[in-house]
Amino acid sequence: MNETYSESELQSLPFMNINLDLEKRVEDLLSRLTLAEKFKLSSGRLMWHTKPIKRLGVKSCTMYDGPHGVRIGSLGEKKSTYFPSAICRAATWDSKLSYEFGKAVAEEVREVGAHMLLAPGINIQRTPMNGRTFEYQTEDPYLNKVLAVATVKGIQSQNIAACVKHYICNNQETNRFTVSSEVSERALQEIYLPGFKATVQEADAWSFMTCYNKVNGIHGSENYNLLRERLMEKWGFRGFVVSDWNATAYTSTEECVKAGLSLEMPTAKKYNQKSLSKAFNDGKFTIDDINENIRRLLRVMFLVGLFDDENTIPKGSRNTPEHQALARKIAEDGIVLLKNEEDLLPLNIKKIKKLALVGPNTNFRVLGGDKLSRGGSSDNYPPYEITPLEGLRQKCKDKVEIIDTPSKADITIVFAGLNHNRGMDSEWEDKDAFGLPIEQVNLIKETIQENPNTIVVLINGSPVDMDDWIDQVPSVVEAWYGGMEAGTAIANVLFGDVNPSGKLTITFPRYLSDSPAHASKKSYPGNDKVFYDEGIFVGYRHFDTKNIDPLFPFGYGLSYTTFTYKSLTIDKGAMREDDTIKVSVDITNTGKIMGKEVVQLYIQDVESSIERPPKELKGFKKISLKSGQMETVVFELNKDDLSFYNPIENSWVVEKGKFKILIGSSSRDIRLEGKVEYL
Ligand code: BGC
Repeated sequence: MNETYSESELQSLPFMNINLDLEKRVEDLLSRLTLAEKFKLSSGRLMWHTKPIKRLGVKSCTMYDGPHGVRIGSLGEKKSTYFPSAICRAATWDSKLSYEFGKAVAEEVREVGAHMLLAPGINIQRTPMNGRTFEYQTEDPYLNKVLAVATVKGIQSQNIAACVKHYICNNQETNRFTVSSEVSERALQEIYLPGFKATVQEADAWSFMTCYNKVNGIHGSENYNLLRERLMEKWGFRGFVVSDWNATAYTSTEECVKAGLSLEMPTAKKYNQKSLSKAFNDGKFTIDDINENIRRLLRVMFLVGLFDDENTIPKGSRNTPEHQALARKIAEDGIVLLKNEEDLLPLNIKKIKKLALVGPNTNFRVLGGDKLSRGGSSDNYPPYEITPLEGLRQKCKDKVEIIDTPSKADITIVFAGLNHNRGMDSEWEDKDAFGLPIEQVNLIKETIQENPNTIVVLINGSPVDMDDWIDQVPSVVEAWYGGMEAGTAIANVLFGDVNPSGKLTITFPRYLSDSPAHASKKSYPGNDKVFYDEGIFVGYRHFDTKNIDPLFPFGYGLSYTTFTYKSLTIDKGAMREDDTIKVSVDITNTGKIMGKEVVQLYIQDVESSIERPPKELKGFKKISLKSGQMETVVFELNKDDLSFYNPIENSWVVEKGKFKILIGSSSRDIRLEGKVEYL
């Protein structure tokens, strides 16, 4: 113990032998660390790094944010690709794009010499008022899991550790350090845990970040049940847990160690040498506890190549044309056409002479500008960002004149929305209001008076109130925060070079009070506690059960073409425990142009002994069809897809009886219905 080694002696130690089994390397290195060195490894330095142990050649492991591109350091010392917000990526309903995104960001992480990406953020979108709704994927646990798994696989394909966050029930920013999310076991099992669990079991996630909040009274970083029991013992997680930055503020040293928190970030507070030594000497935790935490951290250090010869590690790449093209593609495929009543869209470049552009987001750079508030830790610093105005100028060139007077234009576009200022889609604070700023509402109403051919394009990352103006506007496009290529993507969709195919991954309520989390102040934002009284009835599960019409439902989005759904076939009328059933449906593009459709499969338990939602998403496929083309889409279902968590028996069960299989173009546009009986 505590020997110093020459460089050549170090190279001959078993843990440096790349041909040795990973676990043997881990154990060898672990056995050489002193207790003080283990304590040293337990906390970070300089915001983004672990501490090196020079004696043993253990280098710093570097981790950077975040969910929409790598942010190198806190102030963007180096530029990187700015991808669309997670809500936009999710709206593509295309897991291949999530994989490609993960891979591309990881290449950028590698290029700057880092080892871990603090992403994806996969908290469920419980309320449209959460400041970080834009940073998360969806309100639905199934969609969440499919996209999270693809993203983690993409990131880790480059031997960069993904960090799945924020585990768990960090569904609001209000009181985020202190509030306790009071949530039932059934809601945890059916809604909040599945995405996290799947990243472990289907994608072997190498790290998890704890939440700031408490869950049922215990902070995430010291939550033995969530970390040690569920994540590690039940799910078989082999990676390590890192605290959210300063999430340990209200925890105790020994509880964090025992719960399985390996790394406290950004610096030592509860995990300083003095506190760790005292707790250890007082018998508050054992050597096995700390060994287990450090073992996990070392394992990931090996996996990301921290001990490999640097010449053998791929160099990665950053700001490449390929990454920029991917950012554009995600933006294009994530844009949701919400309304197009008079077929104002797509715009015809040959017919329009004057196009008026108005509104605060016309020439607004979401991250590429010099704003002070940038949405929080998920921002990054792109080398450029194309605004809607720039994208449209490029598209229109000398063919269409761009003006700013609606009354003189053939068509007017109002670029409205939010902007990542505090209270408007940002970390640290929930949204101040559900509606758009009043000046924008007035602008939309005035513009429509001046020019009935007005289109509203929204740039934002969460549902907003449209009740006051939506009925007056013929066309509305949800463009989200579309990353550095947003302007080009928007122009391509508006002029029909790209047929919109995004679908909402969160219900847009007509009134905020219709939202399940907004039944009372107790259920949002709460105070010391926020009560998840809606249980499993989150998002469309609530709207369907209560029969409330949303403004735009989950899974909804229009196209410039049309699709028909025919010939639903279910290969078995009845299924038993080990059976898999095949559900197939023929989708035809009946319009004039090529388009993509997201075919959605929901199940309904017709004879359940406890209340279940009328619809639960259990499958989806995104397909691309030329005009007139037909494709048979096939889904497979097994017993797990029919099951629910029974809080009385404390287990997942499937009950005998009938289930409906609903195939649709959105959760409120079910085109075909079939049945299966579970025997
Ligand atoms: C955020 C995390 C982020 C961390 C580091 C925290 O405030 O909640 O998502 O990864 O900061 O920037």
